[in-house]
Amino acid sequence: MRVLITGGAGYLGSVLTRHLLAEGHEVRIVDNLLHGPQAHLAELADRPGFEFIEGDIRDEPLMWRALDGRQVVVHLAGIVGDPACARSPQAAHEINLDASVRLYSNALLRGVERFLFASTCSNYGRMADPDSSVDENSELRPVSLYARTKVEYEEFLLGNFMFEKPTLALPTCLRFATLYGLSPRMRFDLTVNEFTRDLTVDRKLVVYGEQFWRPYVHVRDAARAIVLAMTAPADKVAGRVFNVGDSNENYRKGDLVRLISAEIGGELDIERVEKNEDPRDYRVNFDRIARELGFEITMTVPEGIREVMASLVTTAI
Ligand SMILES: NC(=O)c1ccc[n+]([C@@H]2O[C@H](COP(=O)([O-])OP(=O)(O)OC[C@H]3O[C@@H](n4cnc5c(N)ncnc54)[C@H](O)[C@@H]3O)[C@@H](O)[C@H]2O)c1
Repeated sequence: MRVLITGGAGYLGSVLTRHLLAEGHEVRIVDNLLHGPQAHLAELADRPGFEFIEGDIRDEPLMWRALDGRQVVVHLAGIVGDPACARSPQAAHEINLDASVRLYSNALLRGVERFLFASTCSNYGRMADPDSSVDENSELRPVSLYARTKVEYEEFLLGNFMFEKPTLALPTCLRFATLYGLSPRMRFDLTVNEFTRDLTVDRKLVVYGEQFWRPYVHVRDAARAIVLAMTAPADKVAGRVFNVGDSNENYRKGDLVRLISAEIGGELDIERVEKNEDPRDYRVNFDRIARELGFEITMTVPEGIREVMASLVTTAI
């Protein structure tokens, strides 16, 4: 398939790009290199079927050209995470909402067949019932600007596609658990990666609110879920929402600290800061994607911890 990935130079996009190229798809990415030059792009330059356009999704003429001949759009570009959106609220609105709305409208006009959107389990916010878990039918209780932009865009996509051209730009919203694991564009601000690095390298960590739950999924499994949704029969995914992860991969922050400490061994300096209010506390059920698309993870958090640790140790040597 001929695919356009927005934000393709990022943490998830750089893994997805390699996965798609390895499977013989054509991949064009648009990325404004918000986080600086990405050395990993150089190794893709000569790969058949790969094309990189440096640019901003807010640039409509550029996006119109980027959509030319594409069958699938995977929309990953955005201001990602609560802190980044809180720091740049205007950019978050412009990119996560306004430019994203224009992108979808132009994808329709350009005859794109599928439109996959990277949403987030942060949309669930704080669970109404702390003893249960949330699924795709649960109420969304976004507690940050980041999650609010994701919820609003989901509503736009799912509310609009039916009325315009029902056979074009079929939208699918993938609500990813928090990602972890190695990527060509590494992110150490994600909990599993961050805790693993801090404890492996500094042997020191400060944990805030260790009792709060979150689900996690490996970045390669997230990329596999995108490919699965992209290639599934349209009637299974069009206008649908899927949580991406595994119901057994919900952890409290304290669980992560215990798992990583057990891997490292020896004396570690861990400071636990009590925090009783965290607006984001959610355990998520991932049965829909398993049942309807046959999705299975290939990595668990303990395996991801070992993978990240091994790379840190090798880098240090
Ligand atoms: N990382 C996670 O844990 C996680 C969890 C749930 C959902 N998601 C979603 O997955 C997507 C990818 O996340 P990621 O972790 O790879 O983040 P990332 O920041 O590494 O990647 C985002 C990419 O988008 C690019 N970008 C930002 N603004 C742009 C603009 N205006 N025009 C063009 N490119 C722009 C950035 O340069 C970056 O390469 C995001 O939409 C994010 O909300 C991520």
